[in-house]
Amino acid sequence: MPTTVVIGAQWGDEGKGKVVDYLSQKMDFVVRVNGGPNAGHTVINEYGEFKLHLVPAGIFNSKTISIVGNGVAIDPKILLGEIDDLNKKGISCQNLKISDKAHLILPWHILLDELQEKERGANEIGTTKRGIGPVFSDKVGRFGLRAGDFINEKEFSEKLFFSFNQAKNLLGEKLSFSFDEILRKILSQKTYLLSYITQTEFILWEAIARKKNILLEGAQGTLLDVDFGTYPDVTSSTCVAAGASQGSGIPPKEINEVIGVVKAYTTRVGAGEQPFPTEMPKEISSALREKANEYGATTGRPRRCGWLDAFLLKYAAKINGFTSLAVTRLDSLSGFEKLKICFGYRTKEGKPISFEQLSTSRLKEVQPVYLEAPGWQEFPKDCKKLSDLPKEARKYLGKIKELVEVPVRLISLGPEREQMLRV
Ligand code: IMP
Repeated sequence: MPTTVVIGAQWGDEGKGKVVDYLSQKMDFVVRVNGGPNAGHTVINEYGEFKLHLVPAGIFNSKTISIVGNGVAIDPKILLGEIDDLNKKGISCQNLKISDKAHLILPWHILLDELQEKERGANEIGTTKRGIGPVFSDKVGRFGLRAGDFINEKEFSEKLFFSFNQAKNLLGEKLSFSFDEILRKILSQKTYLLSYITQTEFILWEAIARKKNILLEGAQGTLLDVDFGTYPDVTSSTCVAAGASQGSGIPPKEINEVIGVVKAYTTRVGAGEQPFPTEMPKEISSALREKANEYGATTGRPRRCGWLDAFLLKYAAKINGFTSLAVTRLDSLSGFEKLKICFGYRTKEGKPISFEQLSTSRLKEVQPVYLEAPGWQEFPKDCKKLSDLPKEARKYLGKIKELVEVPVRLISLGPEREQMLRV
């Protein structure tokens, strides 16, 4: 498995942190490739429970080099806080590297995120308010500041001044701090960050030449991708597998495996109004939310819960080229008498929608078509192999493979690292 990509197959929160932590044990390099501190990758292992926003989930393996790739937007304050927190819990960040091309989230990006959400009114996206939209706008607008800009302090302060004035034009009085205040603060953060910053693509090219195991860790999920997701209710980075190459500097031809992480049901978080065809009735959704603790790792917001949408998963499989699936949270589905799986859509008038007609940005106009699968009671305590699972759970996994047309190779049965079956 020299170069493997791990991608969320739904609307994020699929359990990528756990899958990456599990796979990292055999990895020489783990690279975060997109997003920013909007992500919250939950990892539970022998060191405790962590919610990683920027540091790759490979950090727990002392032999692994962890890289924050060029596709990630960094909030220096959050990153430094995370490093500090890890150090306090005995985890060394000595092997952490940050791409010099990763963009910096500046204080006004967060204010602009808040302002833009307000201006959207009823059409608000429900962003995480971490400044993601504005920082990636600046990146493609070619106004952004990158981690590598820290190296030349004079140039850095000139670029920062330009960015500050632009933000001032948009924010007016809302930008209440002075340029000098901000400059001083950022330069003090620079002192701590500089030792991690380097041209990470060169490190990765050498790793490829030496046939090292590399894992590319995607954030968010396919349906939040800025191109192929449920636009405009998406994030501002490329969450699909193609972005892993762009966000790390690894050429596409070097990627060997693409693992799609699929939660055994579906969740969505946002402003609350975004289309979600397989959303469960309120009572069932609330019960599952409480049982599975479906609250945002970054914002604490309650997640909406729904049945598994295999029609959208098939789309995710095509766009990412999944070579296998990791199904997570199967344990959270225990206790249902019957489960539903969506395998197609109809129009509101009842006309079937073919796969070729599926549009991820027109989900408001569709009705899901379900098959019913028998549920199961709690799993036996110590499941070590597939045959230890109740036959209904095995059938459910079989249906996923059949409908998505990709084999299931990993099954997560609980939050701990060891609660994972490889099949
Ligand atoms: P932003 O990425 O903060 O701009 O938010 C855009 C949309 O993506 C919102 O609906 C967020 O709730 C959603 N989102 C962003 N990051 C994540 C994530 O890591 N998990 C789930 N949803 C996310």
